[in-house]
Amino acid sequence: MTRLAAWLVLALAAGVHAQQDPATVPSFKDMDSMEARVQGCVTCHGQQGQGTADEYFPRIAGKPAAYLHRQLIAFRDLERRYAPMNYLVAYLTDDYLREIAEYFSKQHPPFSPPQPATVPANVLERGRTLVQNGDGSKQIPACVACHGGGLTGMEPGIPGLVGLRPNYIAAQLTRWRTGERRAGAPDCMHRIATRLSETDIQGVSAWLGALPAPREPQPGKRNNTRMPMACGSQS
Ligand code: HEC
Ligand code: HEC
Repeated sequence: MTRLAAWLVLALAAGVHAQQDPATVPSFKDMDSMEARVQGCVTCHGQQGQGTADEYFPRIAGKPAAYLHRQLIAFRDLERRYAPMNYLVAYLTDDYLREIAEYFSKQHPPFSPPQPATVPANVLERGRTLVQNGDGSKQIPACVACHGGGLTGMEPGIPGLVGLRPNYIAAQLTRWRTGERRAGAPDCMHRIATRLSETDIQGVSAWLGALPAPREPQPGKRNNTRMPMACGSQS
């Protein structure tokens, strides 16, 4: 891992160097193509950002560019923590990260096969209910209200949830609950995650992970007036 990380950093650093001063390092000029820049990413996220067999490496393809950009900045500024990610983007500028975000937002590789749910039927049903209808008694809005009817996200800044694995989804919700992952205040996902029980998290993660590939993979268009809760990251 350390050697892999070191190699990735070198590859990226070469890209940055070429961007800053292409004239002095002509042999690195080709390294500044987007394909070359993202070589450091594909080991974990797949050639087009589709994800890999590792359940914890998320699909990033096709997510709104503004969302991806914000996440890259959060990793760079240590507001979101995962050591290899923090390390890789540590020295990259906002503009450079925006170009990477735009690149992955335009990729539309096929979705990996869904992951059949392994939780008990009542837990799975609870997950489906939360995603589609929420739970008024616990003030949990339906996930589809913000993530889109087809769960493919909403432009300009809400990520799709379809195509993510249960382990990744559960980990993110837990991190939001504990404050390890944060988004702009008011942090709607923090509020939602703290209202979910352990079983709720298992249920929504399993249900989302078992969804088939969407027929219309593009994110929808967000309608601010219909958001059930304010999200600071979207203002
Ligand atoms: C060593 C594996 C690895 C490498 C290399 C890597 N990533 Fe990641 N990436 C991850 C993991 C794991 C996460 C989820 C971390 C978490 O929040 O727990 C992640 C998260 C992300 C996210 C946020 C996804 C979301 O839906 O919120 C983006 C965007 C991203 N990576 C882009 C990149 C880019 C761009 C590169 C190359 C510069 C890269 N990654 C290289 C493993 C990797
Ligand atoms: C009020 C709007 C809203 C509702 C309702 C909502 N979300 Fe979110 N969600 C967001 C926003 C905004 C983000 C992006 C936050 C950021 O920029 O980091 C997000 C991000 C996420 C992520 C991170 C995805 C990734 O790629 O890392 C997950 C997982 C998630 N939400 C799950 C859920 C689940 C499960 C529900 C239903 C129980 C839900 N959300 C309901 C607004 C919402």
